[in-house]
Amino acid sequence: MRIVESVLDLIGDTPMIRLQKITRPPDIADIFVKAEYMNPSGSVKDRIAVKMIREAEREGKLKPGYTIIEASTGNTGTALSFVGSYLGYRVAIYMPEGMTPERVRLMESYGAEVHQLKLDASSEDASVAGAEVEIGTRLRCLELERTQPQTWWARQFSNPANTRAQVRTGKEILRQMDGRVDTFVASIGVGGTLYGVAKALREELPGVKIIGLEPASARFPISEGHTRIPGFGDEVTGGIIEEMMESGIVDEVVKVTNEEAVAMSDRLVKEEGLFCGVSSGANVFHALKVAEELGEGKRVATVLPDSRDRYLSEKKYTT
Ligand SMILES: Cc1ncc(COP(=O)(O)O)c(C=O)c1O
Repeated sequence: MRIVESVLDLIGDTPMIRLQKITRPPDIADIFVKAEYMNPSGSVKDRIAVKMIREAEREGKLKPGYTIIEASTGNTGTALSFVGSYLGYRVAIYMPEGMTPERVRLMESYGAEVHQLKLDASSEDASVAGAEVEIGTRLRCLELERTQPQTWWARQFSNPANTRAQVRTGKEILRQMDGRVDTFVASIGVGGTLYGVAKALREELPGVKIIGLEPASARFPISEGHTRIPGFGDEVTGGIIEEMMESGIVDEVVKVTNEEAVAMSDRLVKEEGLFCGVSSGANVFHALKVAEELGEGKRVATVLPDSRDRYLSEKKYTT
């Protein structure tokens, strides 16, 4: 095992695992999962936190003494709490009320302030839903950005450094799979993972199929042409998702229900020993469908975005 001088050097270069049990029928394609929950703060968002912060520092938008702010239902808030506090910044995360207490404690453990806002837009399916639940907290960040000096809002939903960080994830996938990937599947939150990985894969593999997933409960489904939340301007919606869908890089967006996602995440833990969260279940649920369609000899890749530790007190995991 190598010795590193900074915990930030442990971000990325995550392992890739070929599923063994979930893909047991011999005539289906192989499924490869990239264990992003093994990043230091437990999710794929460590990659974007360090990239967004470093680029903002280089551009002079983030300076010593500043406060990093973000609207997040969990992982980006945790990742910014981790990287931001480690680099000496104050970090304040705005999240809708009703998220699991573990998420708040994770951020506070790293030293961040967590502000839980009472908002109308919260959703039962927050564990797999994306932007909809974040609009209210993004509006609060916008107000702070406009009124508080020495504040830097990371804006993960429209920050191009997010996508650039995930291009590296795609390059790692290509390297780990010796450039042989038939289909890549990933759930869409703010879109950075799917867009960044898709960009890297398409550059090397023009024929690779790119499939995005969204919660079946989404009120403004991307699969039905919604790339922004109606009634809000560019400053709090659109962003990466809009650019990604307009670019044509995504072949298909498919809906997955919360029940399907939770059931598959349970299987991933029990059968494969992979301690991952709900969106990992969604990703593998659909990857399995694709593997059955493609058949033997083909290769499907996906990511396990976060760790299950942040969902343990959710009711669906205690029954
Ligand atoms: C658990 C989980 N899975 C998947 C995603 C989707 O990633 P992205 O925001 O890059 O689309 C997110 C991010 O919102 C997430 O927190």
